[in-house]
Amino acid sequence: IKRIALLTSGGDAPGMNAAIRAIVRTGIYNNLEVVGIKNGFSGLLKKDFVEMKSNSVSKIISRGGTILKSARCKEFKLKETREKAFANLREMGIDALIVNGGDGSFRGADLLSKEFGFPVIGIPCTIDNDIYGTDFTIGFDTAINTVIEAVDKIRDTAESHNIIFFVEVMGRDSGFIALYTSIASGAEATLLPEVKTDIKQICSYMEQERRANKTSGIIIVAEGDKEGGATEIARKVKEQLPEYETRVTILGHIQRGGNPSCKDRVLASILGHGAVTALLEGKQGVMVGMAHNRTVYTPLEETYLKHDQIDHNWIEVSKIISL
Ligand code: F6P
Repeated sequence: IKRIALLTSGGDAPGMNAAIRAIVRTGIYNNLEVVGIKNGFSGLLKKDFVEMKSNSVSKIISRGGTILKSARCKEFKLKETREKAFANLREMGIDALIVNGGDGSFRGADLLSKEFGFPVIGIPCTIDNDIYGTDFTIGFDTAINTVIEAVDKIRDTAESHNIIFFVEVMGRDSGFIALYTSIASGAEATLLPEVKTDIKQICSYMEQERRANKTSGIIIVAEGDKEGGATEIARKVKEQLPEYETRVTILGHIQRGGNPSCKDRVLASILGHGAVTALLEGKQGVMVGMAHNRTVYTPLEETYLKHDQIDHNWIEVSKIISL
């Protein structure tokens, strides 16, 4: 292997830049040429390539987002699109590809690797933390810290005005962000895509809280909750309990931005380095992850076919300690 390429794909995640920096610097340290592909798989199709030097990644470790930009590329599901991508990689003399992204990106990456025997390594980057094969994904730690900072502020005004706030956090299919931030902010209830939401139960819980003289509260709602997002749930609760003062806050994309936390910078640096060394050792078609503080490799296929599950006991714990 002489020349490697890297791209960032899917929803951006704080720490992607730290991963880019580690890949570029580890590559150069090992006498490899490193090529950045802009705008994810779409850039690969348009030959949107940039040669990366050591100073191309100076002072980016602390920055959120991705200097290579990111995109979701639906066409990559088509075989002919992947053929074009493979042809472009060959034309540019690229011997291997590192894909920084989530499970959708790994599906495409895995097909590229299998169909053409092309060496591909994945690095788990998503604020959702829903990828099998790593304890944590790059971006999750920063995102949950952004959420609790916001919820602490909401708590102040909720308490001053005796309001129940429904705070919507990201997580279309996964409740990791909701569960962690609910525990950390002492929220009164947590609604997740993994657990069926019962509006009656939430109402009786709120009544119970009122009897315990609690006049305000925070209910964290994952955007993927099956009963609807925070707006819909707040509306249904208000129908049952019209006397309650309620408000909705949707945190939205602020969760994806911001300077990465120390933990995300370290995780991204170790995994970026691990991806390049994996290629040099002849590994391919795997994702590099971190389990019990050790670098581990998981076949790409498993990362999207298996699912990292929330621990249902934690929901119980969260309820017990917020009563
Ligand atoms: O995958 C990360 C994520 O932030 C999800 O939590 C969220 O559902 C989705 O991206 C939002 O994506 P978009 O900004 O493309 O709507």
